[in-house]
Amino acid sequence: MGEGKVTVIGAGDMGHGIAELFAVNGFEVTLMDKFPGALEKARGRVAASLARMVERGKMTKEQADAALSRMKFSGDMASSAAGAMLVVEAVPESEELKKSVFRELDSVASPDAVLASNTSNIRITDLAGATSRPGRVVGMHFFNPPMVMKLVEVIPGEKTDPSAVQKTVEACGKVGRTAVQVLKDSPGFIVNRINAADTLFFCLLLDKGVATPAEVDTYARGQGLPMGPYELLDFVGIDIGADSLAYFAGALSPEYGKGVTFAKMAKAGQLGKKTGKGFYDWSSGRADIPKVEPTDKLSIMDIFALEINESVKLIEEGVATPEDIEKGVVLGMNRPFGPITVAKDLSNAEVKSKLEELATKFDCKIFAPSKSIAEGRMRDAVEGRLQPKSGTKVAAPPVQEEHTEGSGAVRLERLPGGVAKVIINRPKLNTINGQVLERLDAIVTELTADQSVRAVVFTGEGAVFCAGADLSQFFSSSVAFMDFAKKGARTLRRVSEMPKLTIAVLKGYALGGGLELALSCDVRVATEDVEIGFPELTRGLVPAWSGSQRLPKLLGISQASFLILTSERVKGRRAYEIGLVNRLVTTGDPDESAVKYATELASTQAPVAVMLAKTLLNKGSEVPMDDGLDMEAMAAGLLFATDDLREGISAFLGKRRPEFKGK
Ligand SMILES: NC(=O)c1ccc[n+]([C@@H]2O[C@H](COP(=O)([O-])OP(=O)(O)OC[C@H]3O[C@@H](n4cnc5c(N)ncnc54)[C@H](O)[C@@H]3O)[C@@H](O)[C@H]2O)c1
Repeated sequence: MGEGKVTVIGAGDMGHGIAELFAVNGFEVTLMDKFPGALEKARGRVAASLARMVERGKMTKEQADAALSRMKFSGDMASSAAGAMLVVEAVPESEELKKSVFRELDSVASPDAVLASNTSNIRITDLAGATSRPGRVVGMHFFNPPMVMKLVEVIPGEKTDPSAVQKTVEACGKVGRTAVQVLKDSPGFIVNRINAADTLFFCLLLDKGVATPAEVDTYARGQGLPMGPYELLDFVGIDIGADSLAYFAGALSPEYGKGVTFAKMAKAGQLGKKTGKGFYDWSSGRADIPKVEPTDKLSIMDIFALEINESVKLIEEGVATPEDIEKGVVLGMNRPFGPITVAKDLSNAEVKSKLEELATKFDCKIFAPSKSIAEGRMRDAVEGRLQPKSGTKVAAPPVQEEHTEGSGAVRLERLPGGVAKVIINRPKLNTINGQVLERLDAIVTELTADQSVRAVVFTGEGAVFCAGADLSQFFSSSVAFMDFAKKGARTLRRVSEMPKLTIAVLKGYALGGGLELALSCDVRVATEDVEIGFPELTRGLVPAWSGSQRLPKLLGISQASFLILTSERVKGRRAYEIGLVNRLVTTGDPDESAVKYATELASTQAPVAVMLAKTLLNKGSEVPMDDGLDMEAMAAGLLFATDDLREGISAFLGKRRPEFKGK
């Protein structure tokens, strides 16, 4: 691919992952470390990670071999840095050590190279000061592990040239990472700063004996989180939490020093998983969490209020825009939505009173409402009307599709023969959240405009099509939930109106919103044992992405009432018998079978005729018969003038396959 050369200094936890990410995405990479043992270990870690990706079908063996062959491992700084357009420093978090690396880099790297630091905390201006070219020095803060986490915070020092920021942001896009721009060098940048307020809160909860870790974690899991905050802290190391509070106490406010439990535990060597004991016992390899009732002493609103507060402070201080804060939290903390989204659904008064309550209860000024919230201007802040005056953003190029693990909630693959494949790839059985809807919507727009695509296969990653809408998202009110319903219905309507043949592959589960997506396609192929159904009524809901309207049109009111009102699941074979499914796949891979079928249809069905037939079918049932017949006659008239009609007839008479041009 020849993307240019990147050098990574420091082959530890972060460095080896950053180097691998660049190599996988076509860059020539030199990974440099002072210690030969570190280089050997890094080579092994990269090779193992690539092998895992091959095993999981994320890349071919050839692609993995090519990525590894693009990597060099070296102990020499000068030859490593020579010719690199970007150098990323990832040595341990010591200001003196990093400065010495930057001093050396300054003397050996090419003059126009961007010199980036992966520091979590050290001021970029201070590192840049160690060089004779502060204009070329930036912060490039990857998240751990770099191969998985999508976020990079890009930070300028006081003298950094916008062109260096631009180059760094572009490099992020080329490796499939979303760059958020930190406009001002400030402790913790965006994500670690917001996280620090949470960390302090969870430390103070224990200090003050408000609830036990097990009670809090049981509550958090009940809210749909995969891990409670204390289990997570045990997992990453209580020392990391304690160090973070100590750092912020020095760099931002002594109030962060108020939390004591984490520091005490760290001092006692009770670090969590890595020492076998933290808040929980880990001797079995997993946290042994006692079975307790969830606490009622805190609510998810406490966390939302604290994160909104910290976000508003970042906006007031000119550190980042609301959009970048939202992106940062979603991608850096693995959340379905961030504090800006939540803030837009809450009133200033609600957030303010919650913060006042927390500040008093914990005697902590960090939790007190920020200036804008105290003045009733939260909305101005989160809706961008307090846009920071300091610093300007460079334009971010689009993030390239990447070929690494964790790639996007919905993937689009273009296959030969005019076929595209749309793959939902999400945790929890490919459930659909707001992000999936947005991506599906964008894909529909892209494919609609692409004349070369004639048939589209909708499927799910792995053995499951889609188990429905992801209801673990945050909805602050009925209006917010109604918006989500409308958004889904709109997107599925656009799928149904796409001027291409669409095929859904029903396998594993096709439930609720997933089934509604399938109903919006023209053809449904299914495995014999897929479970199909509408569980909505058992959860107190109704199908709200057009299922209650489409299903009776498709099957008649009797079958539709039965399926929706009883929530009874049917298997693929039964669905085929009642006409819900058009083809059964009895052997082999259902995706392969659907793609083969799509490829056949893409060559036999005239594209313009498909487009008009779909309009007739979609609109026909909504207009009086006479109007429908007029539409039909007009469509036939339009088709009469197409090259494809001539080609279709001539191929039929000549007993050959037609070659339609879509004209
Ligand atoms: N680990 C994380 O979760 C994480 C996340 C984001 C950012 N960071 C930041 O990334 C940086 C690296 O962290 P890490 O966890 O990868 O550390 P690490 O200790 O795992 O790796 C550091 C590597 O640097 C090498 N090294 C030390 N001195 C060197 C020198 N003079 N020249 C070349 N190599 C040298 C070491 O041999 C080691 O292999 C730190 O600034 C850290 O704050 C870490």
